[in-house]
Amino acid sequence: MPVEPDSRIVYCRGRFVPIAEAAVPIMDRGFLFADGIYEVTAVLGGRLVDNVPHLERLDRSLGAIGIRNPLSLASWTEIQRELIRRNALDEGAIYIEVTRGVHEREFTCPPDLEPTIVAFTQARALGANPLAETGVAVITLPDLRWKRRDIKSVALLPQVLAKFAAREAGVAEAWMVEDGFVTEGASSTAFIVTEADEIVTRPLSNAVLPGITRRSVMRLAEAHGLRIVERPFSPEEALAAREAFYTSASAFVMPIIRIDDQMIGGGQPGPLARALRRLYLDMAAREAV
Ligand code: PDD
Repeated sequence: MPVEPDSRIVYCRGRFVPIAEAAVPIMDRGFLFADGIYEVTAVLGGRLVDNVPHLERLDRSLGAIGIRNPLSLASWTEIQRELIRRNALDEGAIYIEVTRGVHEREFTCPPDLEPTIVAFTQARALGANPLAETGVAVITLPDLRWKRRDIKSVALLPQVLAKFAAREAGVAEAWMVEDGFVTEGASSTAFIVTEADEIVTRPLSNAVLPGITRRSVMRLAEAHGLRIVERPFSPEEALAAREAFYTSASAFVMPIIRIDDQMIGGGQPGPLARALRRLYLDMAAREAV
């Protein structure tokens, strides 16, 4: 059994400690300026899913905001594995955060600050998620974010507000819309399936996070002869779609059965979304390390 959340052992600034003893100084730039980067890797059967591309994206995001990656890929993986071991984590996620470090509150700081590292586990049922059987509803709302959404920044206020709006509406996720097109979910990549059975998702750019699950799902789809088209789609096109789903490290492939007030696919998870979820879980079972 996984340990209770409040008895977790976490990694904080170089040490594995009980969560109650983990602390970051108030002058940390992550706290004061959201000056940091994060990653989330799924854990299934005590093993890390798609982890190398997550750590590569962490490295890219840090580089994009000029924070030195304090650890090698091997050292990151060791910390993740040690967290899994110490918390007996079978299923859930590992969260990693790196901030620029601790300094008097000024907008800039010396380039040689020691980055702050924290990492912790979150136990959660991911594979046998009942929502994947029923499908979920989403709402659409304006995308209020900055222009570098390809960076996995901890500055998540627009997403937090979008998630509160989703909760208020009694739905699982919010799809954000800009200039008449869906960008992505508040914490996921958006897909639709057209009447021609094309699986459509927005191409990578500064407008969206390059989802790791997106990448794997696209590869699996192509390997199985499914047609993937990378192009923007509008909320109107999504409302008329045959299927819709979203992907993320914690949801894997999540079928959508309603967008705003419009039922999708007769209110049932679509066959392609179900197939892709199964393919992803099979891949994870084979390749997680
Ligand atoms: N969110 N788009 C956004 C804005 C996201 O925050 C996420 C992930 C994704 C999907 O990316 P990936 O497949 O690499 O998880 C897309 C994570 C899970 C989170 O914030 O908890």
